[in-house]
Amino acid sequence: MSANKVKGTYDVLPNESYKWISLEAKIREVLSLYNIKEMRTPMMEYSNVFHRDSEGSDMVTKETYDFVDRSNRALTLRPEGTAGVIRSYVENKLYATQELEKVYYIGPNFRYERPQKGRYRQFSQFGVEAIGTVDPALDAEIIILAYDFIKRLGLKGVKVRVNTLGDQESRDKYQEALVKHFTPHIDELCDDCKNRIHKNPLRILDCKIDDKHKSVINAPTPIDLLNEESIAYFNEVKENLESCGINYELAPKLVRGLDYYSHTVFEIEADIKGFGAANVLGGGGRYQKLVSELGGPDLGGIGFAFGMERLLMALEANEIELSNDLDLDCYVITFNKALKKIGTKILYDLRNENIVSDMNYTDKSFKGQLKQALRYHASYLIILGDDEYKKGVVGIKDTKTEIQEEVKIENITAYLKEKMEK
Ligand code: HAM
Repeated sequence: MSANKVKGTYDVLPNESYKWISLEAKIREVLSLYNIKEMRTPMMEYSNVFHRDSEGSDMVTKETYDFVDRSNRALTLRPEGTAGVIRSYVENKLYATQELEKVYYIGPNFRYERPQKGRYRQFSQFGVEAIGTVDPALDAEIIILAYDFIKRLGLKGVKVRVNTLGDQESRDKYQEALVKHFTPHIDELCDDCKNRIHKNPLRILDCKIDDKHKSVINAPTPIDLLNEESIAYFNEVKENLESCGINYELAPKLVRGLDYYSHTVFEIEADIKGFGAANVLGGGGRYQKLVSELGGPDLGGIGFAFGMERLLMALEANEIELSNDLDLDCYVITFNKALKKIGTKILYDLRNENIVSDMNYTDKSFKGQLKQALRYHASYLIILGDDEYKKGVVGIKDTKTEIQEEVKIENITAYLKEKMEK
C-alpha cells in the first residue's frame, strides 16, 4: 500500500514549521495590541451551522465536507471560521456579558475546491470577529487592523479594496436588480450561476467561470441602489479610514464570496507576479443576520480572515525572512557509543540551564556530525573524544570565530552561559 496525502492538502515539514510558528507569534503580538482575545472552536460543527435544510440561502455556500457520523448526525468540517465563532457566541451567551466581543482565531478549514496555487482543500485562516455593535467606526477599525497587520509583516504593494452592499433594504433591491439584469442571459451562464440566480444572485459576480461574460462585466453595482442610510454609513466608514491615512481603493463590484454580508465588505490584495487568484490574501465584511439566524439576538458583527498559506507565500515572494528561533545554541559531537552516555548527561545539564542543544545519535563520522550541527546553525560545538574524556574535558568550538577551547566537563554550562551572555 502506498500512503499519500489527501489531494489538496500539504505537510509542514520540520524545516519549515518555524515559519508557521513565527507567523502565529506575530499574529498574537499584534492582536494583543488591539486587546483582542483568542477563541478556539471545533473543526467540525453540526451541518446546520453552515447550511439550511430547506429553502433560503445557505449561511455559507461553499463546497463543504459533509458527512454523517455513526449516530447519524449530519456534520460538516468548517469551511471558514465565522459561522462557528458565531454559533459559540450565541450558545455561550457571550452577548449577555459583553456589549462588543472581539476575538481572533487561527486554525484549519476545509473546502472541496479545485486545488491550485494558493488554494487547498485544507488551509488555515487567521481571522478576527467583532460582534455585538453596529458602528461605522468599528467597521473602519477592523479594516485598519487588517491593514496594520499586513503592514507590520513588511509586505509591499498591498491594496485594500472596499465596497458596501448597503443595509438589508438596499441589498434586497440590489438582488432584485441583478435578477432582472441576468435573467435574459441566464442560458449563457454556467450551471452554478443558473442556480445562483434564484439562491444568491450576488454570487454570479464572484463566478470564476463567467467572470468574462459581458453580462457580468456590465452588471449593476451595489452603490447604484443604496438608500440614504447606507450611503451615510459607508461615508462614515470611509471618513474613518481617511482620518488614519489608510490608502484604500473603492471596488464597486466587490461583493465577496460568502452569503452573509451586508454593509461594508473588503479585501486585501498583494501585487505579486504569478500569484493569480492567490493575490487575495484575505477579506471580510459586516454580517447583520448571522447571529439571529443561529438563534441569537438581533446583533451584527464584522470581521475578516487571511489565508495563512497565502501570507507565507507573500512573505516569501517579498523575500521577508521569518525568525527561526529553532536554531541550536549547542551541538554535542561524540565519537563512540560509550561517550554518548556522557553526551546524554551533558545535554541534560545544558537543557536544565535553558541552553538549546542536541547531539547526534548515529555513529556518523566527525564530518557528518559537523554537517548536521551546521544545518542546525549551532553556535557552539562540544567535542568529546576518548582523549578528552580521559582528561575529563571537552573541546568547545565557537562556530563563528572558529576558536576552540578546552573546558572541564563540570564547567561546560557555566562556560557557555558566560559566553552566551557576552
Ligand atoms: P474567504 O474570503 O472565504 O472569507 O476566505 C478568507 C481568505 O482565506 C481568502 O482570502 C484566502 O486567503 C483564504 N482561503 C480561502 N479559501 C482558501 C483555500 N481553498 N485555500 C487557501 N486559502 C484559502 C472567509 O472565510 C470569511 N469567514 C472572512 C470573514 C470573517 N468575514 C467576516 N468575518
